[in-house]
Amino acid sequence: MTHIPKVGQALSRIDGVDKITGKARYAAEHFPPDMLYGWIVSSPIAKGKIVAIDDAAARAHAGVVEIISHLNRPHLALLDHSYKDDVAVPGSPFRPLHDEHIAFSAQPVALVVADTLEAARDAASLLAIRYEATPHNTDFDVALGEKFEPKRKRSGFQAPKPRGDADSALAAAPVRNSATYRLGTHHHNPMEMHGATVHWHGDGKITVYDKTQGAQNVQAYLAAVFGFAKDDVRVQNPYVGGAFGSGLRPQYHVFLATLAAKMLQRSVRVTMTREQMFSHVHRPQAIQHVSLGSDETAALLAIINDATTVTSRFEHYMEAVCNWGLMNYKCDNAKADYTLAPVDTYTPGDMRAPGAATGMTLFEIAMDELAYAAGVDPLALRLTNYSDKDAMGDKPYTSKALRAAYAEAAERFGWSRRTAAPRSMRDGGELVGWGMATGIWDAMFMKTSASAKLDAEGGLEVSCATADIGTGSYTVMAQLAGETLGIALEQITVKLGDSDLPAAPVEGGSWGAASTGAAVQLACQALGDQLYEAARKMPGSPLADYKREQVKFDEGYLVAIPSPDLRLRLIDAMRATGKPSLKAEETAKPGIGGMLSMTQKARNTHSAIFAEVKVDEELGVVRVTRVVIAVAAGKIINPKTARSQILGGVVMGIGMALHEETMMDHRLGRFMNHSLAEYHIPVNADIDDIEVIFVHEPDPEVTPLGVKGLGEIGIVGTAAAVANAIFHATGKRVRDLPVTIDKLL
Ligand code: MOS
Repeated sequence: MTHIPKVGQALSRIDGVDKITGKARYAAEHFPPDMLYGWIVSSPIAKGKIVAIDDAAARAHAGVVEIISHLNRPHLALLDHSYKDDVAVPGSPFRPLHDEHIAFSAQPVALVVADTLEAARDAASLLAIRYEATPHNTDFDVALGEKFEPKRKRSGFQAPKPRGDADSALAAAPVRNSATYRLGTHHHNPMEMHGATVHWHGDGKITVYDKTQGAQNVQAYLAAVFGFAKDDVRVQNPYVGGAFGSGLRPQYHVFLATLAAKMLQRSVRVTMTREQMFSHVHRPQAIQHVSLGSDETAALLAIINDATTVTSRFEHYMEAVCNWGLMNYKCDNAKADYTLAPVDTYTPGDMRAPGAATGMTLFEIAMDELAYAAGVDPLALRLTNYSDKDAMGDKPYTSKALRAAYAEAAERFGWSRRTAAPRSMRDGGELVGWGMATGIWDAMFMKTSASAKLDAEGGLEVSCATADIGTGSYTVMAQLAGETLGIALEQITVKLGDSDLPAAPVEGGSWGAASTGAAVQLACQALGDQLYEAARKMPGSPLADYKREQVKFDEGYLVAIPSPDLRLRLIDAMRATGKPSLKAEETAKPGIGGMLSMTQKARNTHSAIFAEVKVDEELGVVRVTRVVIAVAAGKIINPKTARSQILGGVVMGIGMALHEETMMDHRLGRFMNHSLAEYHIPVNADIDDIEVIFVHEPDPEVTPLGVKGLGEIGIVGTAAAVANAIFHATGKRVRDLPVTIDKLL
């Protein structure tokens, strides 16, 4: 026996070699025979309609097979917007090439399909489309005049719950701070752009390799919209080159590729350009007013938190922006209000910690301001107002080790050596600033199925339709399977990212490790039950007298726990069944395995983030020189992939603090900096020392494995820690992120 993986081991990714050697193929790296290439033509206007399309020159281009627009697209089952995908928000989902109307800039208006990508792209430049533009608005400040509270809420949306009398308490508070905070538009910018390769098999069936976070979501969407039988559509996404939420909903590339394949009865690939990636989903621009009142000891007396985010005119995208501060802090009087402001862009969508990354981060800058107003240390302020229960829902937490997170991160960072006054710390010519913030995110659990299959050679295959979007799911599932059945890593295959596999929701919300993990463990335990039965019935079995719970799986053996010398090889038990393989499929759902029903207690992850910045006093250049983050997220299955998740979240948080913002040219209604040269994200040179601590947080109630999830918590609050450090360094409070040099000088 070689390496039996165990929960808690820092294993490297089992898919790592395939990824770095190019063996792992992404959506646009499949080559069905005789495949055609589609090139998406984007609208130059933000609103109005198409008056005429002259495609004669484009059609005459060598290699062009078809030019598809609203004028010649085939009739489709559900072009009337009535079918919504799993993650859809209230409104009318966008259907490309539906009719002549334009609702946002860079809306796809035609697909040029040709033998080669080059021919399709070249021919696209010959298309002459006449538009009639009507006035549009993409300016958030103008849209605020039309802000509204949507009547129909997004499924699962939790409205903030008021308590006490916040207005009177604020008016009477001896210490007060009221300010307005802003966050610009963000785009996800995964490394892999959105693309789909549709393999037209010719027998009515298609296989779609799509860049998505939910193979079965896309399968159901394509089947409904294009009128396929569900079984005739298979969607595969075994490898996803990052997504951060941009792949939760089916995007327009997969619609267009499938439309063309169905119309031409050929295999077709469509990919977005990087520029087109900036014309679909994005984190919404936000404005948040925070008023905080406290007594002289900085104990909170009042919280008022109002936020508005943008949405498109055709869908109402909502996220929980202003719940987090009300939930996290003890305070008798609190209220919040959330509204939407409509603009003429594509619908915003979920991006890593949607709502919390925006709302909690901005709230934590307000908390820093209150600390200065009250004259207390920012960490002391958090501890004074620490709440052991969810203060908004008035419910206990399944666990909340945030106090330990504050303590461990502060100790490691050296917070006690901080001098309070702004501009009081220096390093040569640079101002030094130390800031901190709190992070909070949901610990969710979703119904998920998985199967486990053991073959006669002892190979174990576990499978689930969920995706590994770069988070380490393959590795973590192998660990859980290997530990449950005592099987070596080398003999375990994990299959994910295929709509044919056992049912899973979209991979999002940080619920994957907890939910898929529980399903994999259940399936492996059920397989273990079958092996135990087979072992017990073997002639002269040493396990004949032992009950199931008295037998464990260890290094390829079934072992009697009370008497470990009594053991049987797992492979022998397998062969004794006489079957070529043994298989079990199980479903994990809320309420199983000791976990509480989803509503009895609050279930959240928490973090404490401490950041050091050094600021060039003359040039205003900010360097984030140190970040220490302590995370309380229940059980950690794999400390290495877990750390990577938090590192990624922190880097994204640094981007949010200093770099990231998509800027709009309101005359055109088009995002201007639509390339990675002009949409700035942190690169290696921007990242220095990041230390990740996982605090001890045993929690048998939150999920069956005690796992809370890590994909999103790393970004929440991180930008506030950096912004607060910049204030400490410079004495200048910047309330709209990112904190660019022009705002500091
Ligand atoms: Mo996440 S924003 O649910 O991919």
